[in-house]
Formats: sequence, C-alpha cells, structure tokens
Amino acid sequence: MRQSSLVVVANRLPVDDTVAPDGAFEWRRSPGGLVSALHPILHDKPATWVGWAGGTGDAPTLPDVDGVRLHTVPLSADDVREHYEGFANATLWPLYHDAVEQPVYHRRWWEAYQRVNRRFAEAAARAAEPDAVVWVQDYHLQLVPGMLRALRPDLRIGFFLHVPFPPPELFMQLPRRAELLLGILGADLVGFQRSQAAHNFAQLANRVLKLPATDRRIAVDNRVVRIGAFPVSIDTAEMEALARRPEVGQRAQRLRRDLGDPQKVILSVDRMDYTKGIEQRLKAYSELIADGHIKVRDTVMVQVAVPSRERVEQYQILRDRVEREVGRINGEFGRVGEPAVHYLNQPFDRVELAALYQVADIMAVTPLRDGMNLVAKEYVAARVDDAGALVLSEFAGAAAEFQQAYLVNPHDLDGLKLTLMHALEASPEDVSSRMRAMREHLRTHDIQAWATSYLNALVPGRSPAA
Ligand code: ADP
Ligand code: G6P
Repeated sequence: MRQSSLVVVANRLPVDDTVAPDGAFEWRRSPGGLVSALHPILHDKPATWVGWAGGTGDAPTLPDVDGVRLHTVPLSADDVREHYEGFANATLWPLYHDAVEQPVYHRRWWEAYQRVNRRFAEAAARAAEPDAVVWVQDYHLQLVPGMLRALRPDLRIGFFLHVPFPPPELFMQLPRRAELLLGILGADLVGFQRSQAAHNFAQLANRVLKLPATDRRIAVDNRVVRIGAFPVSIDTAEMEALARRPEVGQRAQRLRRDLGDPQKVILSVDRMDYTKGIEQRLKAYSELIADGHIKVRDTVMVQVAVPSRERVEQYQILRDRVEREVGRINGEFGRVGEPAVHYLNQPFDRVELAALYQVADIMAVTPLRDGMNLVAKEYVAARVDDAGALVLSEFAGAAAEFQQAYLVNPHDLDGLKLTLMHALEASPEDVSSRMRAMREHLRTHDIQAWATSYLNALVPGRSPAA
C-alpha cells in the first residue's frame, strides 16, 4: 500500500455511491458537515483519507478524488447496524446533543464499536509513513487514537470532534465512559468546536480517570495531551466565487419565479435530523400564518431536509412526523399551485445550494444543539450582495462567532416566532450591516485557517500543504 505523510481517518469518505437518473452508477460528494469541512483542505495534497464508502461487504477500490487517495474500510451488515447505526448514532449522537432524544445503550453495540475502531486504527497504521501525522475525526472513532498509539508510537496523532462534547452530568451516563476517555487521550492534541467542550472533557478526565487536567492540558502516562477549541469553518472563497457565477444568479431568479415571486422566502437546509429543530420551526411558521402575522402568498417557506441515517428508528419517526406536519400545514394554509411549505427531501449540488441561499431573504438555522452548523456559514459566504437575514440558534457552535445574527432559543416557540418576525421586518440597513460583519469574520476564519491552526498546534511549523 502507498503510504502518506498526512492521513485523515473519518467514518465517512467524501463520496457516496449513487445511481444517476439514467441508471448509471456514480460517486457523489456525501452531504454532511465533516465532508464539507475536510474536502477543501485536502484536495491536491499528498494525503490519504481512510474511511467507509457507505455500503456493506467488501471495500470497493476507489480512484483518487481531487488528488487525495481514498482508502476504504469495509463494514459488514452487522458492523453497520451495531457500530454506525447503533453505538455511533443511537447512543453517542443523541447523548452528545443534550440527549434531545433518549440515548440507547446495548452491550453488543460497544463490542462492535471496539471492533470497528480497531479496523480503522489498523488501516490508518498501514497508510501512514514513518513519523506521519494522523488526524482522526469525530465521535465514531474515539478509540482510534489510543489503539493507533499502541500500534505506531512514532506517529503524531490528532483527534477532532465535530459534534458537541457533553457536560459531565450527561457523559457520566455512558457505561464505558472511562475507556472512551482513554481512547481519545491516545492523541497528542484533542480539538473541539468550543472551549466549553474542552472544559467538559478536562473535568471528566479528572473526575473519571483521576488525571491532573486543566482546560488546556491533561497529563496521562508520562505524556501531556493538549486540548483546545478550533471552530471549524468552510471554504469561504470557494462559496463566494460560486455565488458570483452568472448561472447561480440566473438559477436564483428562476427559483424565485417558481416560488410565485413572494415578498419573502424563508429557507432551511438540514440533514433530516432531530437535533436540527425542524419540527419546532415548522410549528413557528404555521402559527405565524394562523395568527395572521404573515400570509402564505407573501412569505413562503422552503425546507430542504436531505435523508440521513434512514435505518435508525428515531430518524424514521422524525421523517414521518415532519412529513405529516408539512402535509398538515399545506392542507390547511396552501392553495392549488401555492403550497405554504416547499419541502425537498433530496441532495443538491453546490450550484443549486448556492442559488437557494441567494433566494433566501431569511435563513432559519435553528438546531436544538449543533457542534458548529456549516449551513449557517455557507449562507453568509453566499450572500455576496450583503443581503439576507440569518436567524440562528444560540445552541449552534456558529453562534459563538456570529453574534450579529438574529439569535434565538429554538426551544422557546414564542421567541422563535418573534425573532422570525423581527428578521422579516428588519430594515435593509440593519440586515446588511449584520451580514457585512459576519462576512468579514468568515473571510479570515475560513477552513484553511482552521486546518492551519490545528495542524500547527499538532506539529509546530507544519501547514496542511506539507
Ligand atoms: P451536519 O454536519 O450535522 O450535517 P452542517 O450544517 O455542519 O450539519 O453541514 C451540513 C453540510 O451538508 C453542509 O455543507 C451542507 O451544504 C450539506 N448539505 C445539507 N443539505 C444538503 C443537500 N440537500 N444536498 C447536498 N448537501 C447538503
Ligand atoms: C455530522 C457528523 C459527521 C457525519 C455527518 C453526516 O456532520 O459530525 O461525522 O459524517 O454528520 O452524517 P452521516 O451519518 O451521513 O455520516
């Protein structure tokens, strides 16, 4: 196997297999924040991305994508059920997102988690050249840093968590909490989205493992593990360039016409996930219509909810509920050819997403809890006209950077309605001065800055290009 000096290990590869409308088989960029973040920093780098290609059985051999080697890790049907759908997405995902859904604990899932983490660690050990940097990503692979250190003590190992790291009261529920913490502590540098997460982690290392810990350093086995906040971002310049393309502007105009030329378009773009606050948002919109504050003809809503983790029960329940609610709202408030909520349950390419962002007078990003939320950042980058109001949940990591957004607590339905009205009625000057400030921030805090600051902290003097 060819070896690399930089190896990224993530459950998801940047591509998904899919069948095109003409029946041809093709690879498509997979939706989700992790892929959106890593894709731009790795392309054309001498790096290897170790991950899962989404199916079961033998690992397909994939061609390089934009110069990056893809190394697939195979998962069996049992692995997918017990590791990906089970421990990762029915235990850890809800627990790490404030337990907005009840986390499920099964002993068998923990065995699968260990087994699959070991497979990823072994694949990374094979892909890394001597003294290489290996950067492990996200909650699916928290045991990999420890396993990899045991296999390859020569490596520099980083770990970055894209999702929130929960407060001790919640994390303490985990039956295998000590092993998980020790797994992460196999890294030299542990990165989180927010400093609160680093604080939670340090507290737990101290309380559960009795290790000396501050919010910056934890001492373990005669080593010092550094921890800190590295808020992830997007390729701002790429999104700006895309937004300036004439075809995007034309597509945006066409979309607006197709929506019936309303005065205001409210847009939301999410994976279909119960952390995203989709139901609360639909309820707020429908109550605003019912209360007579807005009229469907003037103010339409577009909800893009790309299917996600469809075999996990909580996701199936959510999808049913969302679709029932969209049907109810349209049945009650729509007219022939004039729905209130335009609901799209499909993946889109970047051009279509950029056009949607440009059509959105209001972008409603109201998750109940979110590590960062890159959709909010993409929207800001796409508004090269400095127009458009971002209504943003206080519980998204992005809120720490976007204090100029119309911030809202999505659990407070009346507050959500008021904030939507505030954004709908705001003066163009207010809207554009907020947008300008946020765009200014994104220009310097982009994905390259994120990768550089993380990798420099992991290996001083090293840039992502090295
Ligand atoms: P999460 O990481 O929970 O999925 P983020 O908002 O951080 O949430 O990232 C979502 C990413 O997925 C964004 O880059 C967004 O552009 C992309 N995405 C969301 N919906 C779609 C869709 N329908 N088609 C293609 N990409 C999408
Ligand atoms: C979030 C997670 C990623 C994950 C993505 C999409 O961004 O932090 O690790 O890849 O959601 O979810 P999926 O289950 O499709 O990989």
